[in-house]
Amino acid sequence: MSPPSPASSAKKTYDRRFGRSPELIAIAPGRVNLIGDHVDYAGGLVMPMAIDCCTAVAVGRDPEATDEPSVIVAADLDVECKIDLGEIQSPRQPGTPDAFLNYVTGPLEQIRKAGVSLPRMDLVIASSVPMGGGLSSSAALEIAVLLAVRTLLERKTSPLELALEAQRAEHEQAGTPCGIMDMYVSAAARPGHACMIDCMTNELRQVRMPPEDEAVVMVTDTRTRHELNDGAYATRREQCEEAARMLGVDLLGQASIAQVHEAGLPGTIDSRARHVVEEIARVLDFAGALERGDLETAGDTMFSSHDSLRDLYEVSCPELDLLVETARDHRGRGVYGSRMTGGGFGGCTVTLCRKEFVDELETAFRTAFQDAFGHEPESFITSAGAGAHVM
Ligand code: GLA
Repeated sequence: MSPPSPASSAKKTYDRRFGRSPELIAIAPGRVNLIGDHVDYAGGLVMPMAIDCCTAVAVGRDPEATDEPSVIVAADLDVECKIDLGEIQSPRQPGTPDAFLNYVTGPLEQIRKAGVSLPRMDLVIASSVPMGGGLSSSAALEIAVLLAVRTLLERKTSPLELALEAQRAEHEQAGTPCGIMDMYVSAAARPGHACMIDCMTNELRQVRMPPEDEAVVMVTDTRTRHELNDGAYATRREQCEEAARMLGVDLLGQASIAQVHEAGLPGTIDSRARHVVEEIARVLDFAGALERGDLETAGDTMFSSHDSLRDLYEVSCPELDLLVETARDHRGRGVYGSRMTGGGFGGCTVTLCRKEFVDELETAFRTAFQDAFGHEPESFITSAGAGAHVM
């Protein structure tokens, strides 16, 4: 029997806890990025898709409890917090039981900053997006909170506005200087499509994914998180900004490949810049190949992307590399392409492969991984899911 959906868990918990039904439930998906990593904050092109896992936020007001603090329940964590939404909340320390609140109060703060006053309300959260696995569980939560509360208050806005609000929340409350990719795809995805996003203009194009009998998307979680590298994301972003300054452009994504190759930038800055401009070109190649149905070429760009993230951008790790090398060994026999996905330093790989090859590949991943690291990775197949919506 499959586990209950996040929406039905959130509703059940809400009903039980408050003795009435929520007024509405909003759903937002996690994402996997097919190609284009560490380029969104440099104004580059990215191509994520929503996954089948999502976060649900049930929300409602209680006319009789107007003087009491709001209750926020994280159903999966079995944690309940009481907060006064009239007060500005300071960020919770990462690792504490109520740290998830940053992804609730941050978005609420953005709604308030947009000039909307917040009534007293209760929220229940339930999610099937693995937490901390690089599949954007925090973006899914932020988008679901924004959509739920804005809909409740009849202040609905566009997917792009939701994404920008969620991104500001992440910068201000969670302290991560992320790009817009994770939030935008969570807000705007369409079933059966990946989103090609130009992070310079925020233009978004829906690109149809291949039918299942041609290729499926497999996500494999290394179940490794290299927490030591926490500051590395911000450092990479700074290095891109440094490269842009040296090249005389506002954002590194505005520079051409030739410009970077000819500039003679200093060592590390040169490597980071080369990754960014070449990765942007790969996203275009990948999208074109996908649209032509040329999955071999699409897959090759995925492998090149991984090599660049490993060697030039230095955000991979041995666990991710082993999965990608194992997939590469099966190239031409059912695997089209494979790469690390998202921020890196652990987390997941994404593999494009033939459906009938999934079991064999999963076994190969498990065997190689168990031999090298003494534990097994976790794989699942996902279709390109729907973006955020209200039930
Ligand atoms: C994280 C960030 C995104 C993006 C990726 C790398 O997921 O949240 O904005 O920068 O890393 O592509």
